[in-house]
Amino acid sequence: KGGVFTYDPGFTSTAACDSTITFIDGDKGELLHRGYPIDQLAEKSHFLEVCFLLLYGELPSAAELEDFEARVTRHTMVHEQMHNFFRGFRRDAHPMATLVGVVGAMSAFYHDSTDINDDWQREVAAIRLIAKLPTIASMAFKYSIGQPFVYPRNDLDYAANFLHMCFSVPAEKYEVDPILARAMDRIFTLHADHEQNASTSTVRLASSSGANPFACIAAGIACLWGPAHGGANQACLEMLEEIGTVDRIPEYIARAKDKDDPFRLMGFGHRVYKNFDPRAKVMKQSADEVLDLLGIEDNPKLQVAKELEKQALNDPYFAEKKLFPNVDFYSGIILEAMGFPTSMFTPIFALARTVGWISQWKEQISDPKLKIGRPRQLYKGETLRDYVDIENR
Ligand code: SDX
Repeated sequence: KGGVFTYDPGFTSTAACDSTITFIDGDKGELLHRGYPIDQLAEKSHFLEVCFLLLYGELPSAAELEDFEARVTRHTMVHEQMHNFFRGFRRDAHPMATLVGVVGAMSAFYHDSTDINDDWQREVAAIRLIAKLPTIASMAFKYSIGQPFVYPRNDLDYAANFLHMCFSVPAEKYEVDPILARAMDRIFTLHADHEQNASTSTVRLASSSGANPFACIAAGIACLWGPAHGGANQACLEMLEEIGTVDRIPEYIARAKDKDDPFRLMGFGHRVYKNFDPRAKVMKQSADEVLDLLGIEDNPKLQVAKELEKQALNDPYFAEKKLFPNVDFYSGIILEAMGFPTSMFTPIFALARTVGWISQWKEQISDPKLKIGRPRQLYKGETLRDYVDIENR
């Protein structure tokens, strides 16, 4: 309870913690945020309203939403001195490496002003992280392509601001396409929180020791980077690129089924979903819409993705193992069509998931019964034995 990983005598893990934030029914393919289904939130809400819901438990009134959006907007700039951190990275560093480093460095900037036992300071840390992650992610992108950083603008909404910081250049006017901004916002919403996934559990474990919240989020970013987790969106697009044409799909499906082949279908399968990931359904619709609106009709990767999904879902192996497309299967196609390189896919996942990590961090540290997370193990090593001097070995 309360974030401690406990094992019953049978060593089958029991619940890692109590939570009221997100509910997943893996068999039904259902995902609720504070009781609201993800497909309704993706269609009717928008990311900052979902942030409010995750953080405070209820949908905001118009006045509450206006105040919340104003508070986030006012914190989107980073301390000017933080620009120096980027200079320490190689230009060709993966933006996730930069994100881990710079977000971790925020704990050096805000360490003294973050007493996690103080409600107000917890609130400020939460707002600062939600507000600044898009700015830092866009700076990591700009740094990797040798372009100047672009400051946030208070007249743009959250998603439009991020696109503006990523794609505008001082040399010419850049107008954010409202359709892309809407698609970007929906991608943020679909990635906002997901119960006790690996990176969220990392944040909870780090926060259970009372660590600085910025350092805890940096730990979550590091965990998300892995190709089995948040890095799957980049790995999935690279897989679709490698497959190239639909006639090569059977070869890759055979490899995915081969026990001796480490290859996995990226964007397929899930620890919890044994049915369709509801986010993948919304993402697939979005992919069709965005590519259509961008006039990218016959996108070869989308064609391969749809045919791969069809063949895999008709294959007894995937049916038996209950493997379905997950949130990462279609997201990369949209992000690439928007102009992002594959290296920016996981940073986008990280900036969207920050509100989920922070909401779960707040829930974790506000539990008065909080104990430090201390997972146990199933010891399978040597039993007790005496030391042997080297001459007798
Ligand atoms: C995310 O936890 C979350 O909520 C994460 C996430 C979130 O929002 O935070 O949803 C985001 O991380 C989604 C997952 C992204 N990762 C990928 O798409 C990478 C490809 N997928 C796999 O690596 C895999 O599906 C995992 C890691 C996601 C889950 O693997 P598990 O733990 O092995 O899943 P499982 O137990 O259900 O697998 C059942 C069987 C196993 O074979 P057996 O041991 O029974 O012989 O299916 C096999 C697996 O080896 N299998 C696959 C497969 N995924 C699982 N075989 C081929 N291709 C795959 N993609």
